[in-house]
Amino acid sequence: MQTLISDSRLLQDQEWAARLMLSMEPWQTLGRQSADCLQAIQESFLAVARDSDGPTGFILWTTSGLLNGYIRTIAVSPAHQGRGLGQALIAHAEANILAQSPNVFLCVSSFNPRARALYERLGYKQVGRLENLLIPGHDEVLLRKAGPSWREFRQTCGGSAE
Ligand SMILES: CC(C)(COP(=O)(O)OP(=O)(O)OC[C@H]1O[C@@H](n2cnc3c(N)ncnc32)[C@H](O)[C@@H]1OP(=O)(O)O)[C@@H](O)C(=O)NCCC(=O)NCCS
Repeated sequence: MQTLISDSRLLQDQEWAARLMLSMEPWQTLGRQSADCLQAIQESFLAVARDSDGPTGFILWTTSGLLNGYIRTIAVSPAHQGRGLGQALIAHAEANILAQSPNVFLCVSSFNPRARALYERLGYKQVGRLENLLIPGHDEVLLRKAGPSWREFRQTCGGSAE
């Protein structure tokens, strides 16, 4: 079945993405509530993967703030995991971010080693550990996929922030 990934600002996609988060780890352990999920989605860029039966996964990213190129959340519905959709969603967000920043950052919870393994296979490396950031006893691991320095990036791509 063919899957398409496209940017979305539709409320029904935002609500679907929030419901998916609430139904899954790591957000259950992190104690996310519906309003938190919806707020994060509405503050970010959203892309949704869908096949002929409907949405199957989504990714959220931001291009402002301290990290200027940050994948905030990614989720694929359980029935569609393990078939390359997560990698395709990350490639979609990276293409958008790398048009304006040489770096892509993301965080992964310390209790989510399978997701971390996927990111490391895609070239992300640990640059920090944010201890007890969201809930006590668990850390968020900050990962970075690094491109050129900001100076080189500005010379070749005209990026706007440093
Ligand atoms: C992580 C996730 C987005 C990856 O999407 P995907 O379509 O399954 O990923 P791909 O098919 O491109 O790559 C497969 C890899 O994803 C990771 N993965 C697969 N299922 C996973 C799951 N339930 N939880 C965490 N990581 C998972 C593994 O590293 C897997 O490789 P492996 O089969 O060799 O172990 C998806 O599995 C998911 O939504 N997991 C639950 C939510 C989550 O952990 N999100 C990340 C928060 S930082």
